[in-house]
Amino acid sequence: MAPNPDRVLIFDTTLRDGEQSPGCSMTQPEKLRVARSLAELGVDVIEAGFPAASRGDWESVNAVAREVQGSVICGLARCNREDIDLAAKALRDAPQHRIHVFLATSAIHRQYKLNMAQEEILRTAVEGVKMAREWCEDVEFSPEDASRTELEFLAQVVEAAIEAGASTVNIPDTVGYTVPDEFAELFRYLRKNVRGIDTIRLSVHCHDDLGMAVANSLTAVVAGARQVECTINGIGERAGNCSLEEVVMALKTREAFFNVRTQIQTTRLYPTSRLVSSITGMPIPRNKAVVGENAFAHEAGIHQHGMLKHHSTYEILRPEDVGLSRSHLVLGKHSGRHAFRDRVKELGFELDELEFNRVFEEFKALADKKKELFDGDIEALVLRAEGSASGPWSLLDLKTVADSNAPADAVVRLQHTDGRTVERKAQGDGPVDAAFKAIETATGVNVMLRKFEVHSVSEGEDAQGEAVVYVEYNQRTYRGSSVSTNIVESSTKAFLEVINRIELSQAGTRSREERAGAAHVAQAAV
Ligand code: KIV
Ligand code: ZN
Repeated sequence: MAPNPDRVLIFDTTLRDGEQSPGCSMTQPEKLRVARSLAELGVDVIEAGFPAASRGDWESVNAVAREVQGSVICGLARCNREDIDLAAKALRDAPQHRIHVFLATSAIHRQYKLNMAQEEILRTAVEGVKMAREWCEDVEFSPEDASRTELEFLAQVVEAAIEAGASTVNIPDTVGYTVPDEFAELFRYLRKNVRGIDTIRLSVHCHDDLGMAVANSLTAVVAGARQVECTINGIGERAGNCSLEEVVMALKTREAFFNVRTQIQTTRLYPTSRLVSSITGMPIPRNKAVVGENAFAHEAGIHQHGMLKHHSTYEILRPEDVGLSRSHLVLGKHSGRHAFRDRVKELGFELDELEFNRVFEEFKALADKKKELFDGDIEALVLRAEGSASGPWSLLDLKTVADSNAPADAVVRLQHTDGRTVERKAQGDGPVDAAFKAIETATGVNVMLRKFEVHSVSEGEDAQGEAVVYVEYNQRTYRGSSVSTNIVESSTKAFLEVINRIELSQAGTRSREERAGAAHVAQAAV
């Protein structure tokens, strides 16, 4: 059946392509939290992961398939039996699910990556789509690196995939190489030369290597694409993917030009963006379109004057359209449950009673330390309610002594979930370095510190500092973050979160090895 010409589906791949970017890996509870938020946002399809990549990926896709309602849940697979069967089994509990199969088609990939001739690519793509169709009707096919594929061959592959039963064909600009005019031409060529193309949904998937992912996706919509693949905050491989919030707000703001609609609840954009940033530790640049801190700030006198006369002089979107209801309302220790609940709601967060009570307790404790609480403080409290990787270790006590003329001392007391309490002392170049070293000695995990940043989450002298730590361990990047009014404490907790993530992922690896022989663990590299 031909798709509705006015509707553009939003296919979110934050949990698959987004999670592939270094330092953005998420735990299963974090993925579930993001998936629920995406469903609330109204995305049509959630690509929950690549089930054949690892046991952990399979389990996360399966958990999303079982627990998240309202969107189609999708899993990625290469065009082979093992990947496709794994994806199908991970997805089968979702009321609506899709298998997304892909195979590279460009000469560069054929020669250097796959060592396959054109005929072999055609045959494998057809087999992949047919195998996926044995499991479900909703099958998407992607010719990877499509934008660098010979047009005639691309048209042949797309036609063969449609004949084999693909209901969506996605055209990826895998390496972010194309430019808008050329990409629109590619879509027009396919629409003109591929038999059956009007019976399926054409999709677009752009990377941002040259900063054109959103522009290229929009031009594809003009040329006939009716699904856009994108990620929250544009996170993804290398320079990232097409940013969901930007493409959605461009389609909405310029509806008269594009003449299409999405079903995104745009007031959920800002809270979802903050959630993904907090979980992945990927900060949102201040000047980022739509969700950046400065996106609605007007500094120049002339602009402020115009804004006072009428907001439309210098504002094409309203902050409230994207769920940003900043106020200068300040809460403090005398603010009651009602005021706090109202503010949490205005900031776009829905908490159940249990979560609300926990966050309210933390709010009261923070209000005792800090006179005034701003929106940034409240967001940090809510986002961290379940955001951090709770792992085997927790911090019972931290003491540091720093003197500018001598090495600093730190003593940490840690509790392990197996009942052990470990106390260790270390010296370092400043209290933070000493605390990190003491944690390494206490836990026996030695890491290579790659990046350490502290920034304030709100305003004022007693603002809370968010510490973010990136380390390398066994050739993988791990990240931890924490917020406190005391930056030595937030840094130490962020470092401990890193150690917890390492231990959790090692436990996953061990249980994977214990299940030796499980055909499940096909280490896949996209
Ligand atoms: O960028 C790409 O080509 C992909 C495909 C797997 C769709 O992510
Ligand atoms: Zn991609």
